[in-house]
Amino acid sequence: MRVGYVQFAPEFGEKAENLAKIEKLLAGKKADLWVLPELCTTGYQFTSKTELEELAEPVPEGESLKRMQKLAQESGAYFVLGLAERAGSVFYNSAVLIGPEGLVAHYRKVHLFFREKLWFAPGDRPFPVGQVRGVPVGIMICYDHMFPEAARILALKGALVLTHPANLVIPGLGQLTMRVRALENRVFAVTANRVGREAREEPALTFTGLSQIVSPTGELLASSPESAEEARVAEIEPTKAQDKMLTPLNDLVQDRRPEFYQDLVEGVK
Ligand code: ACM
Repeated sequence: MRVGYVQFAPEFGEKAENLAKIEKLLAGKKADLWVLPELCTTGYQFTSKTELEELAEPVPEGESLKRMQKLAQESGAYFVLGLAERAGSVFYNSAVLIGPEGLVAHYRKVHLFFREKLWFAPGDRPFPVGQVRGVPVGIMICYDHMFPEAARILALKGALVLTHPANLVIPGLGQLTMRVRALENRVFAVTANRVGREAREEPALTFTGLSQIVSPTGELLASSPESAEEARVAEIEPTKAQDKMLTPLNDLVQDRRPEFYQDLVEGVK
């Protein structure tokens, strides 16, 4: 399986241009699954609900997803991309897995970061796993990386590849945690981070690039510089992520002791 990501700087509000940029960066490149950044059609720094009303789109009927499905049909590839979702009068920071056949999986960011909390509603549905040519693929978004539960649940649901559309702003953080998420769950992880800067309000945000593809043992299979706009691909053998053995006597899934983890969900009493 060939998995890849596109790292670029979306221009705020310029959906058609951003989709054209994605197509340009993908031209001549082949992968089964591409991961694109968080909010990659609209840009990141919303400053009002009015902007969301203008730019957010319904899933899956929105224009941007129609265009992405057409690209999937033309190329035969699957895409995980982040976008601003409108669901009636509620807005979500969402990501979808879309392929030639249409929408495969739909996620609404559970852990909202910083000023996203002013504009978006927190996700209201489980972390999803969808199939790409028979390979289970999980979706999480950016700041979800700080919550090991997100990646763990996806891995326990059978995901062999974690996809992670991101707009990371704290230098080095998500790139490090995603290597850990990959190795503690023995899965592949693809982080598509954006680059560039948005200064639509204070504080201005600089996005950290360094998109990466990580193996189930935490090795970098591909990575990008801090500011380049580019697409990269790695060839992976997804079944390697079915092997959870750390030593001949340690299976990282079977060794779990959920009966001692109740405080995690019930709260410490
Ligand atoms: C983030 O969740 N965009 C850092």
